[in-house]
Amino acid sequence: MSEPTKPRHIPVLLQEVLDLLAPHPGDTVVDCTAGLGGHAVQLAQQLGSSGRVVLNDLDARNLQAAEVAVRRANSAIDITPIQGNFVDVPRQLRAADLRADVLLADLGFSSNQMDDGARGFSFMRDGPLDMRLDPTQGRSAADLIHTLPEEELAAIIRRFGEEPRARAVARKLVAERDSAPIDTTFRLTTVLRSVLGSRHPSTRIDPVTRTFQALRIAVNDEVSNLESLLESIRRSAEALPSGSSAGWLAGGARVGIISFHSLEDRLVKQYFRELSKRGLARLVTRRPVVAGEEEVDFNPRSRSAKLRVIELNDAA
Ligand SMILES: C[S@@+](CC[C@H](N)C(=O)[O-])C[C@H]1O[C@@H](n2cnc3c(N)ncnc32)[C@H](O)[C@@H]1O
Repeated sequence: MSEPTKPRHIPVLLQEVLDLLAPHPGDTVVDCTAGLGGHAVQLAQQLGSSGRVVLNDLDARNLQAAEVAVRRANSAIDITPIQGNFVDVPRQLRAADLRADVLLADLGFSSNQMDDGARGFSFMRDGPLDMRLDPTQGRSAADLIHTLPEEELAAIIRRFGEEPRARAVARKLVAERDSAPIDTTFRLTTVLRSVLGSRHPSTRIDPVTRTFQALRIAVNDEVSNLESLLESIRRSAEALPSGSSAGWLAGGARVGIISFHSLEDRLVKQYFRELSKRGLARLVTRRPVVAGEEEVDFNPRSRSAKLRVIELNDAA
């Protein structure tokens, strides 16, 4: 009997996203991080025979896969693919005279990106140390390691990786980069292991994971991108009472953000709480929604996922 094919990316908290974002027929659903369309397909199906799904992703290949999947799932709706950073989605929507009724951002990277050795995200596969979500833009992880001063590398590894030995790791990277380039995932792993050792059988996480995560977040400006998206959400919520054309979110829009890092979740919490305190939105989730045991067993990646949802006020 042949092995069942392994899904290439399992959408996290799928039922919770559907229940809490609950699109209605005719809505405009905007998926800022379409990935392989796992969430978007299901959201699109809830639209029935009318509505629109705007799909956005930095990764052109993921975006294309998401578009095909959504089209296959619901051929009656309009689909608008946008390749680029979600930071630019508000401007794109305003330019197209669209307003989102439902907005989803499922942050970070997808399993198929992780599993592709050529992308450089995983210490388990050898490949060029790239880590860019859009490989046509910006600076690779190897580039950062070779050009940033030691203190900056240490700060990145501490802040984004929560690595307790960040200083020692940065010192070693700087010592090693001059003797031979650190430009492959396996070379980086070897350097990291010389400081951090291997995974202890009693721990779940391999210690090199933290530095890989930190570099990925830095390479893709993930925290500042999220901050910029949250700022745009705040401005759109502020514009609603005046009926200003600055808005790109419709009155009553539901906004869901799934984060995988405490730094990101803290930001989402702060922005959402502020909007609620100012009476501009309602907290649909008072606490982050997390995956249940069954989901974590089936999809270990969901272990660190946190979903927060708000609903903006109705328009004036
Ligand atoms: C966790 S995956 C999304 C998976 C998707 N929800 C699904 O179920 O298939 C995150 C996706 O967001 C994309 N991404 C991350 N940061 C982005 C950004 N700032 N702008 C646009 N896309 C981004 C990544 O390329 C990746 O495809």
